[in-house]
Parts: sequence; C-alpha cells; structure tokens
Amino acid sequence: MLTESSAAVVTATLPAVQAHGEAITRRFYQRMFDAHPELLDLFNRGNQATGAQQAALAAAVVAYAEHLTGAGTVPWGPILDRIAHKHASLGITPAQYTIVGRHLLAAVGEVLGEAVTPAVATAWDEVYWLLACELIAREARLYAAAGLAEGEPVWRDWQVTARRQETVDVVSFTLVPVDGGPVPAFVPGQYTSVAVDLDGGRGQQIRQYSLSGRPGADHWRITVKRVRGTGGAPDGMVSTHLHEHVAVGDTLRLSPPFGEVDAVAGDGPLLLVSAGIGLTPAMAALEHLAATAPQRPVVLVHADRAGATHAHRDDLPRLHAALPQLRTALWYEDATDANLAGLTAEVAGGLVDPELIPLSPEAHVHLCGPLPFMNVVRGGLLRRGVPAERIAYEVFGPGMLRDDRG
Ligand SMILES: Cc1cc2nc3c(=O)[nH]c(=O)nc-3n(C[C@H](O)[C@H](O)[C@H](O)COP(=O)(O)OP(=O)(O)OC[C@H]3O[C@@H](n4cnc5c(N)ncnc54)[C@H](O)[C@@H]3O)c2cc1C
Ligand code: HEM
Repeated sequence: MLTESSAAVVTATLPAVQAHGEAITRRFYQRMFDAHPELLDLFNRGNQATGAQQAALAAAVVAYAEHLTGAGTVPWGPILDRIAHKHASLGITPAQYTIVGRHLLAAVGEVLGEAVTPAVATAWDEVYWLLACELIAREARLYAAAGLAEGEPVWRDWQVTARRQETVDVVSFTLVPVDGGPVPAFVPGQYTSVAVDLDGGRGQQIRQYSLSGRPGADHWRITVKRVRGTGGAPDGMVSTHLHEHVAVGDTLRLSPPFGEVDAVAGDGPLLLVSAGIGLTPAMAALEHLAATAPQRPVVLVHADRAGATHAHRDDLPRLHAALPQLRTALWYEDATDANLAGLTAEVAGGLVDPELIPLSPEAHVHLCGPLPFMNVVRGGLLRRGVPAERIAYEVFGPGMLRDDRG
C-alpha cells in the first residue's frame, strides 16, 4: 500500500508520467547502459532498437501506479506474472533492482524537470520499491519452484543432438543437458531463454523460445524462425546465429522452463489458434495431449502464408492418429499449393476469419501469433461470447495485447 500522502501525489502526477512514459524509459536505458555497459549483454538489443522494451516498461509502471491508486482498469496480476516469469528466465537478481531504481528515478527527474519536487520524488520512489518488492518476491518463488538455490545461475549447457530444417526459414533443434542430469518438466506454453555468444566479439544476446516438443520426453525441442530484416532493418541477431552457426554437437546455454501461459488449460474442449511461428506452443500442447489425454476434443486453427511455410506440418498426421478428436482448420494466404500429403484438414484461402473458427461454447482457447492477428482473433472470439479469462495468449516480444496493458 502507498502511504496516503504519496497516493495523492501519484494520482496528481500520473498523467504527466504517463504522457512522458516512453521518453522516461528511453532516458533510463541510456543512463543505465552508460553506467553499466555489462548489462547490454542481458537486454535484448533488438527490442531496445525498436523501442518495444521502453514501451513495455513504461506501460507496466503506469499500470502498477494505477493499480495502487485504484485507477486501474486492467487486472494487475497477469502483468506481474508475465514480467516475473520473463525476469526469472533471464536470472534477474534482487541486487539489480537497486541499479534499475536509481536510474529510473533519475530519468523521471531529468525528463519531468522542476515538476519533480521532493514530495513527487518520494512518492514515485515508493511506487518503484513496492513494485520491485512484488517482483523480487514472485521471482524468488519461481527460482525456488525451478529447483534453484538462492543466487544460483539459471544457465545450464545443453547439447544439440538433432537439427531439422522444417521449412526454408524454420529450423528445429533437439537438445539434451550436457551434465546428463534430468530434463526438467514443463507445461505446454512455457519457454526457455537461450543465451548465445554472437560472432565477431559482439557479446551475448538472450532470446526466448517456446518449448515445442513433448513435455516429459528425454530431450527438449525448440523451433526457430529466421528473422530477416525488412525495409533497411538488420536481420535478427539470435535467430540468424542459430540458423547459420549452430549444428549437431554444439552447446547452447538454456534457462529452466518459465512462462505463465498454460496452453492446455481446463479439461474440456480446447481451441488452439496460431499463425506462422506462433505454432510452437500449440505443438507442445498437441504432443502433450497425444501422450496424456488422447480423447480430449481439440480444434487446431493455424494460419500461414502457404503449405510450404507451415512448419511441423509433417507432424500433424501422426498427431491426428493419436488424437481421434482433433480437428484441424488451416488458413493459407496462398492456398493453391495446399498439398496436404496425408493430413486430414480443412483448408481455406486468405486470412483467418474469427467468425468461421469452429468454436465449442465451453472451450478454453490458446492464441499465439503476430499482435495484429491476435487482436483480430481475440476480438472476434470475445464477440462470439468466449470470456476473456478463457483466452490465454502468448506474445513473442515484450508487452501484452492492447486491452490488457493498462
Ligand atoms: C515467450 C516467447 C516465446 C517465443 N517463442 C519463439 C519460438 O518458439 N520460435 C521463434 O522463432 N521465436 C520465438 N520467440 C521470438 C524470439 O524470442 C526472438 O524474438 C526472435 O527469434 C527474433 O530474435 P532475433 O535476435 O533473431 O531478432 P532481433 O535481433 O531481436 O530483431 C528483432 C526485430 O527487430 C528489428 N531490429 C533489430 N535491430 C534494429 C534496428 N537497429 N533498427 C530497426 N529494427 C531493428 C529486426 O529487423 C527484427 O525485425 C519467442 C519470444 C517470446 C517472448
Ligand atoms: C520494478 C522494476 C522493473 C519493472 C517494472 C520491469 C518491467 C519489465 C517489463 C514490463 C518487461 C517486459 C516483459 C515482457 O516480455 O512482456 C521486462 C523485461 C526485462 N527486464 Fe525488467 N523490470 C524491472 C526490473 C528489472 C531489473 C532489475 C532488471 C535487471 C537489470 C530487468 C531486466 C529485464 C530484462 C533483461 C528484460 C527483457 C528485455 C527484453 O527482452 O527486451 N528488469 N521488465
């Protein structure tokens, strides 16, 4: 709880902080990286360049301040959970909150100038530390649940035992722990953070990849789409590295599984909706159900550019055989080359029409794909009466969907 005097100050200054949120977080990162260049290896440089991380941090701080002052319109719990899982997968430590707090509050002062009186500075310091304490506590529980002792690094070496080219731009890697120890269990929908040393002495970068294989198997699988730069933007750093430089026998540093999204929630009908590389959590869900609940009714809706770009399509006939109540509906922008090769599926041309998605009234839904795709599908499903709490979704980048961000 905020003290009464700080609550009044935060309410009065929230509009200014919100209006300048991204200017504040931009300045914050510049200051922090100047003082701590070693943190450049921890943060995603692509998200810094596009401004996505600055926007996500500003939105989270504003949502928390609204939550504290009672002005919030979106539930805070899911936002906290998402950040804590991401932080835990990166091995964020309590001591680092002091560094972030110092530079974030200094950036507020720099951007808002004289408006930041001592009372305003005190009030926002209080907001920051209430938020930091919530995150530190949640992250401590996540580390403990992952079997990590206090302060133990999250990173473990895994060896690539197989590499499969799924499509021209998508490759999957099968991995086993180098130490020969157990392969951690995970829930379909969870991801691992992968740390790589970029070539040419460009330092380390970390990215998240959803686990796309069967939970409980003696190995993990990740499936990576090569991100190509468009309109003058550079090619993706880590996906290009994985495609070009990582072969069978190589090792990668991986975190334990984290992620708050359960792709197989409930035990009734399940609707999995994915687009492009967003199919990776759905693949883990199907593999899991094939092994543990083969009679569960499942609808898989997948959108892709064409049959040739649809990764893991070759796995679907096997999954259909194992899951008699699986129904697959594919939307290919170019459906001329659908070539289903033994797969039982309905195929439509063009973009997914949410009105036409086969929907059981009590279905739990899992969505994953580009943001515009998820906004359209989620909006359509809400209009068709699916309650928001039954629609789980995964964003392959920082932040949450428009309506949930605050
Ligand atoms: C929870 C989660 C799960 C995920 N699961 C998967 C998965 O299963 N499979 C998968 O393939 N991906 C997945 N991702 C995405 C993955 O983590 C990476 O974001 C993706 O591989 C791109 O990383 P990259 O390093 O190749 O690209 P980056 O180098 O991070 O670049 C990303 C984008 O930013 C642009 N960019 C970079 N620098 C600049 C600049 N200076 N100016 C302008 N634009 C710039 C690039 O052109 C590119 O479009 C997941 C992400 C999350 C958060
Ligand atoms: C109260 C303090 C903090 C808040 C509100 C906060 C907020 C956030 C948010 C909103 C995200 C994006 C989550 C998502 O993927 O949706 C994020 C990611 C991240 N945070 Fe924090 N964070 C805080 C403290 C810290 C600290 C102390 C560190 C360590 C130096 C840190 C490092 C990171 C990193 C490395 C990422 C991933 C960045 C990326 O992928 O671009 N954060 N944080």
